[in-house]
Amino acid sequence: MVCIHLKMAVGIILVVLLYVISVVSSTHPKKKTVVGIIGQPVLLPCGRSKLATPNYPTKTRIYWQDLIPRVLHVFKDGNEEYDHQHPLYNNRTTINTDQLASGNLSLLLNPVNVRDNRLTCDVILIINGATSKECQITVNVTASYQKPKLTLNVTDMTLVCSTHGGFPEYQVTWRTHNRTLEPQEAVNKTTQDPGTGTYNISSRVNVTEGQHITCSIYNPILNETQSDFIVIQASKEGSHLLKFILPAVCLLVTLLIAVFLCLKYPNFRKPWRKMIHCCPEPEPENTAEEPEIAELNPQQ
Ligand SMILES: *[C@@H]1O[C@H](CO)[C@@H](O)[C@H](O)[C@H]1NC(C)=O
Ligand SMILES: *[C@@H]1O[C@H](CO)[C@@H](O)[C@H](O)[C@H]1NC(C)=O
Ligand SMILES: *[C@@H]1O[C@H](CO)[C@@H](O)[C@H](O)[C@H]1NC(C)=O
Ligand SMILES: *[C@@H]1O[C@H](CO)[C@@H](O)[C@H](O)[C@H]1NC(C)=O
Ligand SMILES: *[C@@H]1O[C@H](CO)[C@@H](O)[C@H](O)[C@H]1NC(C)=O
Ligand SMILES: *[C@@H]1O[C@H](CO)[C@@H](O)[C@H](O)[C@H]1NC(C)=O
Ligand SMILES: *[C@@H]1O[C@H](CO)[C@@H](O)[C@H](O)[C@H]1NC(C)=O
Ligand SMILES: *[C@@H]1O[C@H](CO)[C@@H](O)[C@H](O)[C@H]1NC(C)=O
Ligand SMILES: *[C@@H]1O[C@H](CO)[C@@H](O)[C@H](O)[C@H]1NC(C)=O
Repeated sequence: MVCIHLKMAVGIILVVLLYVISVVSSTHPKKKTVVGIIGQPVLLPCGRSKLATPNYPTKTRIYWQDLIPRVLHVFKDGNEEYDHQHPLYNNRTTINTDQLASGNLSLLLNPVNVRDNRLTCDVILIINGATSKECQITVNVTASYQKPKLTLNVTDMTLVCSTHGGFPEYQVTWRTHNRTLEPQEAVNKTTQDPGTGTYNISSRVNVTEGQHITCSIYNPILNETQSDFIVIQASKEGSHLLKFILPAVCLLVTLLIAVFLCLKYPNFRKPWRKMIHCCPEPEPENTAEEPEIAELNPQQ
């Protein structure tokens, strides 16, 4: 009997303990997602009521750690402690020690890099041995795409849209005359910068003269669209037209000048006539050769 009671008591205590632990570890921490821009600082906000402990800061420890867990920052008995900080976060974390007592447990991460994407940071407060998870902050890392540049190659009538420096990776969209191009109509190339982890994206499409076409790149985190628009000039016809018009205008101007000169200075005509008369005289040798060639041809 005693034995059974003991077992029941132990069981109940275990269940109660498990319950308490689960309650403590999920004391509904404030969950939040923040957006961090690559290369810039981001605040991981965490606020609570005043730390109502008479002997603060002694017997007070605060841990900022990711889910692995790797330590971002430690505050222990009145001082910041870096022995356990993970190298990923070296030199990048700041807290406001003056404001901890008033409940500001925010951490500044600076500068944000691409490896911080989806970093989830728990803020764990231990006062007099009692642990509570105060906040859980997730970082969405992003970077704006540059306004795309459109480059037309008139040789093969292809249009390339390129943009760089963005994160996360996303697809370029093309619209022409109110229609979104199908995936198979574009050839894309994406490269990731080894240093910053940002993406360069380019997309190539075939175009025709007179086509109106827009290239856009979307950043889903910033809800930001960057676009550029072009009307494909009728380049080939344009150059053909120039080829005809320019010589025609030159010819016309030359003729007008000639006519003008002739009318204004009629005396010039005589020397010209003489010159024209003299010139054709030393020709007979050439004209003699031609019939010979003409005679040779029928024999062949
Ligand atoms: C952090 O800064 C210190 C001093 O400026 C430097 O020696 C150390 O290499 C830095 N650590 C990292 C991971 O950048
Ligand atoms: C909390 O501290 C951070 C710096 O760590 C500061 O940027 C922020 O404004 C503070 N928040 C409040 C509510 O005072
Ligand atoms: C344009 O396209 C032609 C044919 O594909 C190619 O040889 C040429 O290098 C391209 N010009 C530019 C500036 O990319
Ligand atoms: C473009 O599409 C919208 C809605 O799909 C339509 O109202 C509009 O008339 C179209 N414009 C042209 C130029 O086709
Ligand atoms: C190229 O980009 C287009 C436009 O967004 C996309 O729909 C398509 O899936 C991509 N094509 C390839 C082959 O990756
Ligand atoms: C563009 O045109 C060339 C030849 O005119 C063709 O080989 C190529 O498949 C076309 N590209 C696309 C994406 O339709
Ligand atoms: C991305 O584009 C930028 C600007 O055009 C260029 O400087 C950089 O070298 C490119 N990076 C890669 C990996 O292609
Ligand atoms: C953060 O990223 C996730 C996944 O990409 C997305 O579902 C969520 O909406 C983003 N939140 C914010 C605030 O950008
Ligand atoms: C994104 O921006 C557009 C306007 O630029 C707005 O209409 C839309 O509601 C925004 N979407 C979100 C999820 O914020």
